[in-house]
Amino acid sequence: MSEQKHNEGSSDLSSSALGGEQRGLTGLFGINYPIIQAGMIWASGWRLASAVSNAGGLGLIGAGSMYPDVLREHIQKCKAATDKPFGVNIPLLYKDIDKHIQIVLDEGVKIVFTSAGNPKTWTPLFKRNGITVVHVVSSSKFALKAQDAGCDAVVAEGFEAGGHNGREETTTMVLIPAVVEAVSIPVIAAGGIATGRQMLAAMVLGADGVQMGSRFVASEEASSHMNFKQAVVDAAEGDTFLSLKKLTPVRLIKNKFFQQVQEAESQGAGPDELNELLGRARAKKGMYEGNLEEGELEIGQVSALIHEILPAGRIVDNVWKEFLISFNNPLGK
Ligand SMILES: Cc1cc2nc3c(=O)[nH]c(=O)nc-3n(C[C@H](O)[C@H](O)[C@H](O)COP(=O)(O)O)c2cc1C
Repeated sequence: MSEQKHNEGSSDLSSSALGGEQRGLTGLFGINYPIIQAGMIWASGWRLASAVSNAGGLGLIGAGSMYPDVLREHIQKCKAATDKPFGVNIPLLYKDIDKHIQIVLDEGVKIVFTSAGNPKTWTPLFKRNGITVVHVVSSSKFALKAQDAGCDAVVAEGFEAGGHNGREETTTMVLIPAVVEAVSIPVIAAGGIATGRQMLAAMVLGADGVQMGSRFVASEEASSHMNFKQAVVDAAEGDTFLSLKKLTPVRLIKNKFFQQVQEAESQGAGPDELNELLGRARAKKGMYEGNLEEGELEIGQVSALIHEILPAGRIVDNVWKEFLISFNNPLGK
């Protein structure tokens, strides 16, 4: 099966590169390039999502940090800012999930990426309403569950990724071929991808496209605080670490808050103590308010390869151009 998918992926690539028949992810979403900007708390509002969609990728509004009325406003502003397809990412464990879903239905959103929860619960409702549904997974087992639940595609997100992460710690390099072998629906690679050459590598492994998070945090349109964007640009190899494994594992920049968590964990702190340390607004404090010491700073390993803050549309163009150059000369130095 993987060989067949791989071959189909290649023909889709060249046809879309040449402006030919729309197949694969570009056809599924109605976009020009199989480049997806991840839904991200405190980063991906309507400005970022519409900029990416206008550039020919797929922009996602990250609902996870939005109250329901804020989500509605972002969807409406995104519709006004682009006539291209865009989507909404909904973490399924969110407490106001019913309200978020009702807004997505009311506003006629056509694409939903779900994460952090069971895809069986909501996918049938989305499908009945004509919505394309993609679920984020970190293992082949969960990819199969998403396929069984009726999802149209999966995002396979490896251990390198920023934000919340799978407990199995499977890296993108291993996860992509494993998921491609397990399922017959399209697979979107995520975790550790910020360049066209990395995108090509993911597609050689069998992915149909890529989702990038960290790269788009360091964009002009991300709603993240400038201090955080600069911290992403400044981050070097080894500056991020998977933390809070007793709660929900999350990859963070090693700052003062991270050290406090490490210390508490080494002294045997359990989920309750960690929850107390985390408090209610750590992520907002770090990523949105720019408190680089006390806040939680979610970012991926690939931050080590991100050297400048760019307009989101330029990021899409750069990645696609580098992808095409590498595609034509894969071993070129
Ligand atoms: C700041 C930040 C916030 C994120 N928030 C979410 C989220 O709300 N929902 C979600 O499904 N994934 C979230 N993620 C994960 C991304 O959707 C994406 O899969 C991941 O960033 C890909 O890895 P990369 O950072 O190496 O590109 C977040 C990632 C980052 C960096």
